[in-house]
Amino acid sequence: MIKGFIFDLDGVITDTAEYHYQAWKRLADKLKISLDREMNEQLKGISRMDSLDRILALGNQIESYSVEEKERLADEKNEDYKKLILDVTPADLLPGISDLLANLKAAGIRLALASASKNGPVIMEKLGIADLFDVVVDPAGLENGKPDPEIFIKGAEQLHLKPAECVGVEDAQAGIEAINAAGIFSVGVGTKEAMEKADYAVADTSKLKLTDILERANS
Ligand code: G6P
Ligand code: MG
Repeated sequence: MIKGFIFDLDGVITDTAEYHYQAWKRLADKLKISLDREMNEQLKGISRMDSLDRILALGNQIESYSVEEKERLADEKNEDYKKLILDVTPADLLPGISDLLANLKAAGIRLALASASKNGPVIMEKLGIADLFDVVVDPAGLENGKPDPEIFIKGAEQLHLKPAECVGVEDAQAGIEAINAAGIFSVGVGTKEAMEKADYAVADTSKLKLTDILERANS
């Protein structure tokens, strides 16, 4: 019986996945590294520093920067990203998310956020949904990022639920792998190819219907 939903943020609740891409793209261009949307699929769900390492590896520049220089580059990307999220409002909830959250609350299902983003809490406030969530897993306290299941296991634990009592919702391949490895029913948002490992996948958030999800997750 499903009693909790554990959500990713960027690309599921709001379209900040696009802003992460734009900010990384700007940095990559500056470093003369070509980053495209296909490569960006591999960055979704991945922490800030790990994303930078993957971009530098793409340009064979992994040895070119010291730890301090990498921190500066990551800060630069984050400052750009913070400018892009300045104007986020409740109107930026992706289609269907407001209804889904309302239906979940009405059904008494507990909610957790499992985002790798340190900007997550600020964005939740801007979207006006912070109060709906019972738990926000702190990404700073994690030993391993997605696809490791740690963040979803912590989400379930902090909701005081077993993994089998939870559903996880993700738009990232690494995120779906993390949910599956946690023993949680995975719901993917995205193309069939990108979401092929999800237990249940929909093309976009407008198709996330609570009754459809529960029917599958509870069977
Ligand atoms: C999420 C996003 C990633 C982002 C990561 C860290 O997982 O999908 O694209 O790099 O969070 O976000 P932050 O806001 O802490 O840089
Ligand atoms: Mg995401």
